[in-house]
Amino acid sequence: MPNPYRVAVVVGSLRKQAFSLRIGQALAKLAPDALKLEIVTLHDLSFYNQDLEAQAPADWLAFRDKIKSADAVLFVTPEYNRSIPGVLKNAIDVGSRPYGQSAFDKKPAGVVSNSPGAIGAFGANHHLRQCLTFLNMPVLQQPEAYVGGVGDAFNEQGDLVKDSLREFLQKYIDAFAAWVAQQYK
Ligand SMILES: Cc1cc2nc3c(=O)[nH]c(=O)nc-3n(C[C@H](O)[C@H](O)[C@H](O)COP(=O)(O)O)c2cc1C
Repeated sequence: MPNPYRVAVVVGSLRKQAFSLRIGQALAKLAPDALKLEIVTLHDLSFYNQDLEAQAPADWLAFRDKIKSADAVLFVTPEYNRSIPGVLKNAIDVGSRPYGQSAFDKKPAGVVSNSPGAIGAFGANHHLRQCLTFLNMPVLQQPEAYVGGVGDAFNEQGDLVKDSLREFLQKYIDAFAAWVAQQYK
């Protein structure tokens, strides 16, 4: 049983001041000792192209290794046009191949979607869950995390200043820790 469990936090936005990144960083701070969260950003990940698989680019291999070496994966994603951003879908595609060697296989996962809007990126959350089902990843079901109204949650330095969100993220990451431990029993 790993101690702590290593959690790859895959951030679905490339924006420097992304709310998704800030939420990932806030979760890393709030995480109990049983978890070690490591932020994985997607800036250097090139597009998946099956033609390149025989000599896979170094950035694909590095991403696959990061996921393989994690005990669990936490996706923090914004919503683009009621779905997940292309960079996140590309990361899922890269990590899922070569066929039969998916880095994601059987890893416990969580989904934290977020938006400045009111719906909390529900569409992205569930499009992502559809991929995770196919990837054979057990996903924490409750609490669900549709984080809406994120626009006023952080100050200019990126610190979480919204108490209601801090309380929710604390509950979420505690539940995630307990649930990940259960998956490894
Ligand atoms: C191409 C694009 C599409 C978007 N579509 C949605 C959407 O469907 N739903 C939503 O709530 N916000 C949408 N937004 C607004 C994002 O929620 C907002 O830009 C958010 O800050 C992006 O997340 P980030 O801060 O993690 O980068 C969209 C933004 C962009 C750039």
